[in-house]
Amino acid sequence: MKKQLSASILSANPLFLNETLNTLTANGITRLHFDVMDGHFVPNIAFGPHLISSIKNQYPNTEIDCHLMIYPNDAIINAFIKTMPHSIIFHIESCENILSWLKKVPKTIKTGVAIKPGAIPQSLYTLLPILDIVLIMTVEPGFGGQKLIPEQIEIIQSLHHNRTKNHHKFSIMVDGGINRQNAKSIIESGADIIISGADLTQPAEKIPEKIRTFHHILS
Ligand code: DX5
Ligand code: ZN
Repeated sequence: MKKQLSASILSANPLFLNETLNTLTANGITRLHFDVMDGHFVPNIAFGPHLISSIKNQYPNTEIDCHLMIYPNDAIINAFIKTMPHSIIFHIESCENILSWLKKVPKTIKTGVAIKPGAIPQSLYTLLPILDIVLIMTVEPGFGGQKLIPEQIEIIQSLHHNRTKNHHKFSIMVDGGINRQNAKSIIESGADIIISGADLTQPAEKIPEKIRTFHHILS
């Protein structure tokens, strides 16, 4: 599987969002990561369905992943499904019956499960055969610009090992604190898709050269 860099726009300057998106996509970014935060599941608020569908219309060839950090999901999930993103990713910790949430998503949208830092919850293992994506958090969810928790590397390795052993098909996505210094070790641990926010988008003027460096590491 080809390794991919996904751009999180959480730390981008919202007043220049379209310029940033233009720069990202013009310089080879094919995947965007949207953090959806409710001020309850995580102590921050970010990005709703209206922004996601507007960006999807403007950049139709870019894959959009919706990383839902909300609880409960009930009231809002249909609005995100309507935006028809590439994928919807639920936090395992925010769903009492994760399987029923995964089943609500139409087959045209990929599904994923995100897990907070710490041991892999037992309940994830039974889902692995049906998931498209497992997102391993390498920071506590809620904010961009945090430092990667190095203990999470073992979690990525263990999931990668499990996938190989059981011939599972899901992609491993890693999110939080990824920069040009640590990206190589995350890829070597078994990640297929790395997400970068603060390091990639701040300062905005350096985005093209930073994408080149990331892509060099991924190649
Ligand atoms: C954290 C978010 C991450 C974040 C990544 O809750 O889920 O996606 O935006 O940004 P950096 O790379 O700044 O940690
Ligand atoms: Zn995220």
